Amino acid sequence: MAIVLDSQRGLFEIPDDVAYLNCAYMSPQLHAVKEVGERSVARKSRPWEITPQDFFEDSETARELFAEIVGGEADGVAIIPSVSYGMAVAAKNVPVEAGQSIVILGEQFPSNVYPWRELAKRTGAKLITVQRPADHDWTGAILKHLDESTAVVAVPNCHWTDGSFVDLRRVGERAREVGAALVVDAIQSLGAYPLDVSEVRPDFLVAGSYKWLLGPYGLGFMYVGEEYREGAPIEHNWINRRGSEDFSRLVQYEDAFQPGARRFDVGERSNFIFLPMANEALQQILAWSVDNIAGTLKALTDRIGEEARGLGIIVVPAEKRVGHMIGLDLGPEAPGDLAARLARENVFASVRGRSLRISPHLYNTEKDVERLFDSLTRHARLGAG
Ligand SMILES: Cc1ncc(COP(=O)(O)O)c(C=O)c1O
Repeated sequence: MAIVLDSQRGLFEIPDDVAYLNCAYMSPQLHAVKEVGERSVARKSRPWEITPQDFFEDSETARELFAEIVGGEADGVAIIPSVSYGMAVAAKNVPVEAGQSIVILGEQFPSNVYPWRELAKRTGAKLITVQRPADHDWTGAILKHLDESTAVVAVPNCHWTDGSFVDLRRVGERAREVGAALVVDAIQSLGAYPLDVSEVRPDFLVAGSYKWLLGPYGLGFMYVGEEYREGAPIEHNWINRRGSEDFSRLVQYEDAFQPGARRFDVGERSNFIFLPMANEALQQILAWSVDNIAGTLKALTDRIGEEARGLGIIVVPAEKRVGHMIGLDLGPEAPGDLAARLARENVFASVRGRSLRISPHLYNTEKDVERLFDSLTRHARLGAG
């Protein structure tokens, strides 16, 4: 059973008069993560203290922590710089033939669209875009498009515009039945919504650290299914080759890779600033527990949903969305500069498509929600038209 956590605002650097409801854009930084980052920046002033071993230790810790978040093993985790990088690896490795299909969602984030458009063009495959279902049931809509001709289904755990949910377990099951690869962009859920790779069984699951994983911008992780761990990386760097620990033998070139998904690590993955920061953040998330974060945020978004509905705003019903994000469909009368108007009053949320996306975290309080609705009712022309 998840417990509702107390406000953790004191662990972040958020002024009292800021209602930051935009973690889906970029999370604020924990004090502890900032401190680790500052120490890490200073470290390069004394490179004589950085040992060859240090090129490996933080990376392995990061793999272990990320593996714990997704319920998998560290051997399956690659260190990458962005979602687009992970998607490039996936697109290079999944088998696709002319006439087969690649399934994505309508209005999916571009980093999980462009690689598939390119792959479809290159192979003669068909790109199928599942249209947004009126009943918000993405899972049912996706399943209708999966059949023996499907080569890849590349989807998120929740739609980035409004948090509407995709049941990856069911999609994964069907994908395996029809022989399709499952590729997941989990940046908008990992850390705030439970996802277990032993249930979903993705072939590639990708996330950046700077949103719900509370880490730095420019670092991400990719979980690779066992079947793909012998795959081809998109670049060839020295550290992912076998024996790279011995710096004196690097020019004894080696064809074999480091074990597991390490072959997909990005060059210079041993980032001495980002990795310690990400590790600090992952440890904090694990200490809170993803289940508790999810439960706490769900209570908050449920409340926001109820209040919004009371004002005549259309929202995705609670059972059709994740708990950490909620989109308010304000209709065509809402001013185009609504997000900017709210920001002028220190209320921060994003407009994505038709949706005002509210994405809280453990630093948000009831007061933030009151401020949101106070600003909204003055600016959104609710009920107009
Ligand atoms: C669903 C989704 N995927 C990916 C990203 C970021 O992609 P990248 O790491 O390629 O910049 C975002 C950023 O907002 C996002 O919302």
